[in-house]
Amino acid sequence: MSEPKKLYIKTYGCQMNVYDSERMAEALGGKGYVETKFPDDADMILLNTCHIREKAAEKVYSELGRFKGLKAGKPDLKIGVAGCVAQAEGEEIMRRQPMVDLVVGPQSYHRLPEMEAKVREGEKALDTDFPEEDKFEKLKNRPKAKRGPSAFLTVQEGCDKFCAFCVVPYTRGAEVSRPADRILREAQDLVERGVREITLLGQNVNAYHGAGANGDLTLAQLIWELDKVDGLERIRFTTSHPNDMMDDLIEAHGTCSKLMPYLHLPVQAGSDKILKRMNRSHTAESYLRLVERIREARPDIVMSGDFIVGFPEETEEDFQATLDLVEQVKYGYAYSFKYSTRPGTPAAERAQVPAAEADERLQRLQSMITRHQREIQDSMVGRELSVLFEKPGRFDDQMVGKSEYLHSVHVTGSKANIGDIARVKIVSSGTNSLAGEVIR
Ligand code: 5AD
Ligand code: SF4
Repeated sequence: MSEPKKLYIKTYGCQMNVYDSERMAEALGGKGYVETKFPDDADMILLNTCHIREKAAEKVYSELGRFKGLKAGKPDLKIGVAGCVAQAEGEEIMRRQPMVDLVVGPQSYHRLPEMEAKVREGEKALDTDFPEEDKFEKLKNRPKAKRGPSAFLTVQEGCDKFCAFCVVPYTRGAEVSRPADRILREAQDLVERGVREITLLGQNVNAYHGAGANGDLTLAQLIWELDKVDGLERIRFTTSHPNDMMDDLIEAHGTCSKLMPYLHLPVQAGSDKILKRMNRSHTAESYLRLVERIREARPDIVMSGDFIVGFPEETEEDFQATLDLVEQVKYGYAYSFKYSTRPGTPAAERAQVPAAEADERLQRLQSMITRHQREIQDSMVGRELSVLFEKPGRFDDQMVGKSEYLHSVHVTGSKANIGDIARVKIVSSGTNSLAGEVIR
């Protein structure tokens, strides 16, 4: 038997990309590839790129530049670019970096095996279409490889919201939901392979409206179907838009025991003027009211969010409104970014906030968020949490897992196995994780 070919995938960006990279590795697994952690060993290198922030395309070009030497010494090495930069740049990538053999957009991964055959023949392969077919169905798993206890499952892709700063509607296209039966089959398959927690993924996951046997299902209805899957113990979903937070989904947080008490609900800013200019179509007040309703349904829920500071025309007063909102919500986790221009988006044309001002605001916001994050994590000390063990810790006899609130929890001497869910009494809170003892 010939040596398997080696595939090196470098993944940038969001969980959707992590999921996509796994599917690409599986698709190329069917062509005899095994994954390697070392680009030097690879017969194919794939960069699964992200375009959401910073100078994404430029970073990809400079990363590609680094592989030039490698390719010069190994002419059979094939280099591909996938993900949102591939979608946005298309043919331009091959023009600027002629050593690139393959460019594949996020909607075309199921065509990778054919594209691989083409590049092995010495041709170039480019596919950045938005086809109608379900790429995940086409990518359906080959052999039943064992999986870790926590997995992502994409249920929805694309976005119709057109926030004024964001490239997603352009790179990932219009909102498309996968049919429920396919998702349920995939969930069943994941559980058979050892998965106990599934995070449903979508750029606008709560806008989910996939076809079911009796018409479209909402995300909450899909969650209730997943709730029936034996062996699946935990359900999460990300990322949600405030405007799609439907009543049945809020209610599910109070009534579905498999649905974890954690919600990522980006607000982006606290000033109504800025929210309007961002085309967010919600106000600070309506967002706060929504959080209140979610907390009525599930009082202990940990909220998480995304923020952009220094959006064009943001004044100190506007920024103060963001701080006020953060102070009211108290996020357990939050991701904050300095606004960065995305060519082609409406905000790119507007007057920019000076970089030093935006930096300073970002720092102030992040220190407030870090304080809240720490307070919420510390408040877990003394409580009994449920922990899903995911991997061994750094020390002998130590296991690391996640609580229902998504905090990392370390436990020593428990004899717990990967995939076990145990009740753990939290005894201390460190910089980035909690420590606890399994309750017998
Ligand atoms: N500049 C800064 N942050 C951005 N995000 C999206 N686009 C931009 C941009 N142009 C942030 C938003 C989004 C998160 C995934 O990335 O906060 O919720
Ligand atoms: Fe981008 Fe999210 Fe806005 Fe859609 S809702 S345009 S993905 S920030």
